[in-house]
Amino acid sequence: MIGRLNHIAIAVPDLAKAAALYRDTMGAKVSAPVPQPAHGVTVVFVELPNTKIELLHPLGDKSPIANFLARNADGGIHHVCYEVADIYKARDQLKARGARVLGDGEPKIGAHDKPVLFLHPKDFNGTLIEIEQV
Ligand code: CO
Repeated sequence: MIGRLNHIAIAVPDLAKAAALYRDTMGAKVSAPVPQPAHGVTVVFVELPNTKIELLHPLGDKSPIANFLARNADGGIHHVCYEVADIYKARDQLKARGARVLGDGEPKIGAHDKPVLFLHPKDFNGTLIEIEQV
């Protein structure tokens, strides 16, 4: 059911520092910061040959990553995102197999303007999973 790894999202306490780390120390192609107010984050996209890393920093008062950073002062992996061909079909199969879908279970338009859902980290070895229809 799941396809390619679309991205790994890393919450970071200092976006400029994290971008410089990937650009200057690691030699990766790094975007300018992209504010995404609807999602409560500012994102720097790191382009790798086979996937993307998304460096996330809180934006606004109700950022979904604020609590995560409060618990992980140095930052950390926030979620991984797998591609699926049909998000409703994937959701129904996952639920039938015992996975919990977060929120009301209806896909939302995610940071790439594509439908996404999140799966409960307790059902996936402590890792928050995003699935994105591509
Ligand atoms: Co994501």
